[in-house]
Amino acid sequence: MKQLKTLEDLIVRGKRVFCRVDFNVPVDAQGRVGDELRIAAALPTINYLIRQGAIVILASHLGRPDGKPNDKYSLEPVAVVLSELLKREVFFLHDSVGDDIKAKVMDMKPGQVALLENLRFHAEEEANDAHFAKQLAGLAEVYIDDAFAVSHRAHASLVGVPKYLPHAAGKLIQSEVARLNGLLTKPEHPFVAVIGGAKISDKIDFMHSLLEKVDTLVVGGAMANTFLAAQGHAMGKSVLDKAGFDAAMGIMKLAERKGIHVVLPVDVVVADKLADEAKPRTVMVGQLDAGDIALDIGPMTTTAINTALHGAKTIFWNGTMGYTEIKAFSHGSLNLAKKIAGMKTQSVIGGGDTAGFVDGIGMHDDFSFISTGGGAALELLAGKDLSALKPLYR
Ligand code: 3PG
Repeated sequence: MKQLKTLEDLIVRGKRVFCRVDFNVPVDAQGRVGDELRIAAALPTINYLIRQGAIVILASHLGRPDGKPNDKYSLEPVAVVLSELLKREVFFLHDSVGDDIKAKVMDMKPGQVALLENLRFHAEEEANDAHFAKQLAGLAEVYIDDAFAVSHRAHASLVGVPKYLPHAAGKLIQSEVARLNGLLTKPEHPFVAVIGGAKISDKIDFMHSLLEKVDTLVVGGAMANTFLAAQGHAMGKSVLDKAGFDAAMGIMKLAERKGIHVVLPVDVVVADKLADEAKPRTVMVGQLDAGDIALDIGPMTTTAINTALHGAKTIFWNGTMGYTEIKAFSHGSLNLAKKIAGMKTQSVIGGGDTAGFVDGIGMHDDFSFISTGGGAALELLAGKDLSALKPLYR
């Protein structure tokens, strides 16, 4: 197994450290941060650097601002939350490159922390532009990557900067890689994977690789709509990934060949619109009206999932079971979270939305491991080489 170069291997005392983090968190129109999980997850590395007397220069992306400055995607609200969590001042710098930023960084003292503005305000970040990477590298003497959730992207701050500076993985990347690799290499059986979310095309490689490991596959949420529709069930106006029908059938056939039990919803909670005032009804799969939208799994499906989970030694859960933003459609996911949490088994949660959901219901500490990664976690579990991790291996 390949080993990561770790932050503890580098001398950071008194040095300017460029630390790439993933602070891609939801921020509302009033500038309130909706979910602090990814910010909190970076604290062990940041606190280590502070304790070591490094000058900490944090850099992140937020959202997809298309290479242009846009206040909606500013990291300024994140600096406020970070400062509260660290219980110390965090200097917010209004850009990530340029003479003014460099001068401010050069003025910083050991133990001080600064957060640069959104890297994606420069198109050069996503284009992996070498000049931009050099400018970022010019701010520091050491590079630490702790941005696990974006490690499937080959962007300048992730793969360019480490070409110019001594570099290593931060503590979050170390633990994410260890926990997720552990799931791949030595899962205890029975191993049950519960997969939700919307688009099967985003998860197809990952699901194929899961079928090499798991004993039972549970499919719920909008993902299940595609499986059910591909099998010929009328799903009304439910969200479907029509391009994914063949992929869904391919997964069903592969599972059958391998003797893997697949659990799909038998009943769903539907409404005629996606709104707070929508009136939920539970219907059996196969009995949806033309105007029905499936927005959660039903109680019989919850019972079937609980039965499938019974005795599991390893559980991986990615993707909520319904539209959890509206309470009436969050029961399936809530019941699942409670069931898994009560099982005292090896339970790993992957994916930004699922992690955000369990955090939002105050169950953050009830699972063995919550990955901060969405796409990155799934790609790692699909056995892919993540672009940004490559420079970090010994
Ligand atoms: C994520 O939220 O999955 C990461 O921050 C990556 O974001 P991206 O999909 O916009 O590159």
